[in-house]
Amino acid sequence: MSELKPRKDLLDIESLDLSEIEYVLSNAVPFKQLFQRSVKKVPTLRGKTVLNLFYEPSTRTSSSFEVAAHRLSADVTNFTVSSSSVVKGESLLDTIETLQAMRSDYIVIRHKAAGVPGIVAQHTKASVVNAGDGFHAHPTQALLDAMTVREVFPEHQGRRVVIVGDILHSRVARSTSTLFHKLGIEVAYFGPGTLVPAERHDFLRRLMSWEEVFDWKPDVIYLLRVQLERQEGAFFPSIAEYHKMYGLNSLRLDRLRQMGSWLMHPGPVNRGVEITDEAMRYERSLISTQVENGIAVRMAVLHWLKPENGVDS
Ligand code: CP
Repeated sequence: MSELKPRKDLLDIESLDLSEIEYVLSNAVPFKQLFQRSVKKVPTLRGKTVLNLFYEPSTRTSSSFEVAAHRLSADVTNFTVSSSSVVKGESLLDTIETLQAMRSDYIVIRHKAAGVPGIVAQHTKASVVNAGDGFHAHPTQALLDAMTVREVFPEHQGRRVVIVGDILHSRVARSTSTLFHKLGIEVAYFGPGTLVPAERHDFLRRLMSWEEVFDWKPDVIYLLRVQLERQEGAFFPSIAEYHKMYGLNSLRLDRLRQMGSWLMHPGPVNRGVEITDEAMRYERSLISTQVENGIAVRMAVLHWLKPENGVDS
């Protein structure tokens, strides 16, 4: 594995340069190869501690960070907010001070408010990994998405990805499109006018219908979940209407199949909204690969980041 200057935290994609992105993505490859072995562990983080701090629900991200840390031989603590003193009114910084006293080496944090992982990073010597903060960023999702596209397309430059759905509320769309652009992958957005921000990056193409999507000949269709929990107003008339206009139904799946395009989704999926049961079984779906790559990428991230806690002699 190649070497690179150390970095303490991973908070977003914007601050990563290409050599750092390449470092993480290339190191994720041998970590993934490890999964084929009967013993899937390496001693890289033996004696180190990883604290999973999830203030919002998560299945994939929280469990894959836990698996990644275990496979690196780290000790893992899962901090469950619903059974912690946070519900008694303890402030975030008081919680962090308490956790800092435990001298964790890595804090993986998800929070509904954008910017919280950055605040935590300023108040701790532990390495902080943003596992998703509000509408802002989900950098490890973007990295696992890039790894997945590069596995299918080793010559990924100039490949085309259209991201479909609720772009406005999606930290995944923000981080993944930014990373794809840095890697030379073309990105387009398609979704309801109310859920596609007009002012976001000028490098993005905006498509207005499924016909325009098919005419653009994307290599990958990347569906997003409609984030009903983040929507304060009515952004589209009804779920049925959304499915009719934007969902991946049988007819659209047939068009995808004819083009040989691949399908991605960060999960969790809303069956019957953005995707049908039939589309979930599509032979070119990369959804399970994304989950597997999530473990490898998160191993590479934990391996890369260097906490300021303690000095090894
Ligand atoms: N993709 C993603 O962040 O999924 P979870 O919410 O299950 O972690």
